[in-house]
This record gives sequence, C-alpha cells and structure tokens, in this order.
Amino acid sequence: MQLFRTLADADVTGKRVLVRVDFNVPMHDGEVADVSRIERNTPTIREIADRGGKVILLSHYGRPKGRDPKESLKPVAAAVARILTRPIGFAEDCVGQVAEQAVAAMKPGDILCLENTRFHKGEEKNDPEFAGKLARLGDLYVDDAFSVAHRAHASVEAIAHLLPVYAGRAMQEELDALKRALLDPVRPVTAIVGGAKVSTKLNLLSNLITKVETLIIGGGMANTFLAALGKPVGKSLCERNLIQTARDIIAKARALNRAIVLPVDAVVAPKLAAHVATRVLTVDEVGAEDMILDIGPRSIEQAVSVLARSKTLVWNGPFGAFELEPFDNGTIEVAEAAAELTADNRLVSIAGGGDTMAALNIAGVVDRFTYVSTAGGAFLEWLEGKKLPGIEVLQTNRTPAVTPARVLSE
Ligand code: 3PG
Ligand code: MG
Repeated sequence: MQLFRTLADADVTGKRVLVRVDFNVPMHDGEVADVSRIERNTPTIREIADRGGKVILLSHYGRPKGRDPKESLKPVAAAVARILTRPIGFAEDCVGQVAEQAVAAMKPGDILCLENTRFHKGEEKNDPEFAGKLARLGDLYVDDAFSVAHRAHASVEAIAHLLPVYAGRAMQEELDALKRALLDPVRPVTAIVGGAKVSTKLNLLSNLITKVETLIIGGGMANTFLAALGKPVGKSLCERNLIQTARDIIAKARALNRAIVLPVDAVVAPKLAAHVATRVLTVDEVGAEDMILDIGPRSIEQAVSVLARSKTLVWNGPFGAFELEPFDNGTIEVAEAAAELTADNRLVSIAGGGDTMAALNIAGVVDRFTYVSTAGGAFLEWLEGKKLPGIEVLQTNRTPAVTPARVLSE
C-alpha cells in the first residue's frame, strides 16, 4: 500500500509554501486563451493564502532555450491575479537574490509568482543543485501539477526530496479520479481511445487492453485497425506499417477475452475541409477517393450502447476530425450520452490527454463528466501504466510521520 499526504495534513500558517502549478497554458495575443489549468490550481492557492501561508508559485512555461522574454510567466501571473481577484507579486527570476528578496518581503496570505523555471538549464536536468536553490525559498512543497508529473525536472522531482511534500487539492482530485478510472474501478470498464495515429498510442492500447472489458477505437487510428481487418479505407489516414501491430492488438484482446469495438460506418468526404459534401457509408463501402473523417450514426449508437452497459469510462482522444464541423458530430454525440449516464449516476466518466479536453469542451460536457484532466502527456503516460516521477516522489518522500494519509494504490 502506498500513501501520499495532502494539503489537509500540512501546517502552512506563517510558512513559505512552494506550490508547483502548471501555468503552461495556451496564449493568444498576450492573453491566456484557455484558463482551465489556472482554474484547477486556484483552490490550492486560495486555501494556503487563507490559512496564513505565503504562497510561492513555481511553474514552467513553454520550452525556452535559456532566458527568453517571449516565454515569461508575467502575463500568466496577471491572468491568475484576475481569476483569483487577489494581487500577485512577480519575481523576475525563480532562484537567487531576486527571488530570495521577493520571498523575504512576503507576509502571511501573500501570493508571489516566480519566473519560468525553464529559464535555467538545471530545471530539465533535474539538477539537485538548482533544486536546492528553489528549496531554499520555502519551508514546504505542495505539488498541484499532475500535468507535469511525467517530467523528472527539478521543480517537480528533485525539489521534492528536499522539503516536506504534500499533494495540492488539484493533484489530490486528479489522483482520486485516476484511481477510480483504472486502479480500483467499478466494473465493467470501457475505454475510448481516439485520435489520429496508432503510432502515438501503442503503449496505451497494449496497457488498456489488459485493464478494461471493452476498448472502443475511434479517430484516424481506427482506420489502421479497419485496414488490418481487410476493410477499404481509401484516402483516409492509415498507418500501413502498423497493420501487423494492429492485428497483434486484436489477437491479444481475443486471448484476454476483451472486446475491441471498431466503427461500422463512417462519414466520408473527398478531403478534410469546411463545408465539403459528406456521405455516410458502411466500413465495407469506402471508395478509393473517400476520406474517413468521423464515425457514422450506427457507430455512435454502438458506442452509446456499450456505455449504457458500462460502469466506468476512460476516454482519450476524439472520434473524428473534431476541429472541423460536421466532423465533430461523433465525438459530441457520444460525449453527450456519457454525460447523461454520468448525471444519472450510472457511469463514472473520466477523460483526459492532448486534444481530449478541447474536444469535450466543444461538446460542452466537461462540467458534466466525473472528471476531465487538463493533462496531456502525463495523462497518456499514466494510462500507459508508466510510473510518473512527480507521483512517485509524492508517495515515497512523506517525511515526517504520515497522519492521516490517503491510499493511492495497493
Ligand atoms: C504539458 O503541457 O504537457 C505540460 O505542461 C508539460 O509540458 P512539456 O510537454 O513541455 O514538458
Ligand atoms: Mg506536453
């Protein structure tokens, strides 16, 4: 049994609390284009400040090569202040004199955002010396950034060996949701895996097929599976070099007595463009000039009836080319059905990874799912069954005594 401590176990009053958040948010014209990640971190920030802690926010942003004003966290910090409706101080560096002076000037309840941790090489190298410079700024460390837990970086991993560690509220919620998704789910469990390419989801498929009763495959990657079964896919996206791999996955599912559900019909068009003429065909009728761009109505029905017989859903990746109407229809219809089953307490619905949040936002179901993760790579790696460095360190570095603790996994 492994345990991790949460904010509820931390005495933050008057303390300097380093909080790892993920402010790696999409920006457009200097403004935050999607505030979802920031909103997830606000309960932790508010709680620590309200309990009289000094909140010191640590995050990376983008993938800068050294210090680069275009990758500054300053505009993000301003957006966070607006969302919190509280002032937030900003330090132009995350370590050294600038940061130390800014922290020394803080009073209980103050919030300070440090500059992008990736401006320093030590961050991505998980350098203990750099982590030491960060750790000097705080008395405790709260990790509230599941979405970066797959990175063994200094502000995620090395730092957590140097200070007492706690999971923030968003991290706690995420880990609880993931536990309900795969570690300890109510069965039967169905996974929906969509998205363009099989190649990016091979480990995911291999792991999920051992964990779920039914695997529904959608998106461009379903074409490779259809081709593996000898179906015509015309001009559709299809990774021919992975046809044998797709066959192996189908065989593995059979051997384990798990079901793989593939589309039975498709919405096709001559090309991926807005307002093109579309047709609905069965997967046996796709012509040489056709491009499969979404699942058809019978495939939607099929997916919905699987969900109606499931107790838990884990969803990663859209069914069609959802960025373009009408190819978002399959994703929207199935998402809507999952949201309704969730509202009726018949389904635990958990989604995340890459485009998934964007697709479910278009479907307007994010608030009606049990949990939608804002994580991309971290959610995928977790579904692949990998150990995430940021989670491992939460579980192992629990000094001092653990009371009360929470169960993460057996
Ligand atoms: C993400 O957006 O996936 C996380 O913030 C991690 O960022 P990275 O992929 O640049 O490491
Ligand atoms: Mg990423």
